[in-house]
Amino acid sequence: MSQSISHSLKSKNSFSVEASTQQIIFTSSYEDLLALPSFEQNRFYILGEGSNTLFTDSTAPIIISPNFTGIEVNETLSHYYVTVGASENWHGLVQYCVSNSIFGLENLALIPGSVGAAPVQNIGAYGIEFSDLCSEICWFEFESKTLKVLNNSSCQFAYRDSIFKNSLYNKGLIISVTLKLAKSWQANLSYHGLNSLPEPVTAEDVMRKVIRLRESKLPNPKVLPNAGSFFKNPMVTLAKLDELKTIYPEIPFYPQADNQTKLAAGWLIEQCGLKGYRVNNVGVHNKQALVLVNYGRSTGKDIVELARYVQASVNDKFAIKLQPEVKMVTANGEVLFDNLEI
Ligand code: EPU
Repeated sequence: MSQSISHSLKSKNSFSVEASTQQIIFTSSYEDLLALPSFEQNRFYILGEGSNTLFTDSTAPIIISPNFTGIEVNETLSHYYVTVGASENWHGLVQYCVSNSIFGLENLALIPGSVGAAPVQNIGAYGIEFSDLCSEICWFEFESKTLKVLNNSSCQFAYRDSIFKNSLYNKGLIISVTLKLAKSWQANLSYHGLNSLPEPVTAEDVMRKVIRLRESKLPNPKVLPNAGSFFKNPMVTLAKLDELKTIYPEIPFYPQADNQTKLAAGWLIEQCGLKGYRVNNVGVHNKQALVLVNYGRSTGKDIVELARYVQASVNDKFAIKLQPEVKMVTANGEVLFDNLEI
């Protein structure tokens, strides 16, 4: 374990905003985990690759930076079990699997971030969610200083949600993830952009197509800093959808359980005339309105102000309050968007 003083986090968040922390604690072994001091629950932040994090102040809390690597493959007659260190890069894992003929992750290609972040917000794209493939998670509990194994159902996965954002929030650290991938692979082409692929289709074809789709809509954070979808797609009742359909017959929607339906936040934002909207050095991406971008030198506060403007515009037009998918991290730790004091 090593520590340093007043460390810039600009290169450690994909929005590329400036924020500094007094302390970064690197953990790469079980001994490092045992040596972790006890912190008040909200006075630190666990930072993976920083691709879903917005530092909203010029200072950040104590950062815990995990560094657990390695990929191990086991197999049964029917499945591969791939155990991956939390700090491996997600897309690197997808490529590793596809090139070793282990299929199932290809729809999740090119999602930025680390493997350990994937279960926290249950990443999903192009018809597949992390939870569809997760066998178990190895997690270090701070209080008892022990490693625990959580199976899929214990993780309480839901759309962009898991137990790690709720009752286990900041109570421990994800060390590794085990994926269960069937040997009898079948392409998942349910997403409308994938069903044009000519049959027979290989996992590599799907991966290439997903990469092309993402590259056509989502800006590369290294070129135009951003954190992917800024907001979650909102859930509304079917009654609300019917109301909206009378005015907007073309509204995209995705039916869910319990008389609920998901709407496309990007579509709602575009209907407000905000696609491509720019104020000073922040803006709404011109190819995907769900993505907010930093054109350079913006602060976390500038991005929060733009997000509030987008949220208010959608609320005024549709009476739907969008909620960020991105985590808001203040000098005093993570805070809900609605509770930010800026
Ligand atoms: N749409 C618009 N205007 C826009 C953006 C989208 O009209 O500016 C419409 C599209 O035409 C489509 C619908 O909205 O009818 C949905 O758009 P898209 O398929 O691009 O997906 P999304 O719902 O905007 C979600 C995920 C993405 C993921 C894609 C593909 C969330 C919050 N986002 O976006 O995930 O890549 O589906 O599966 O669920 C991320 O989480 O960072 C992310 C990029």
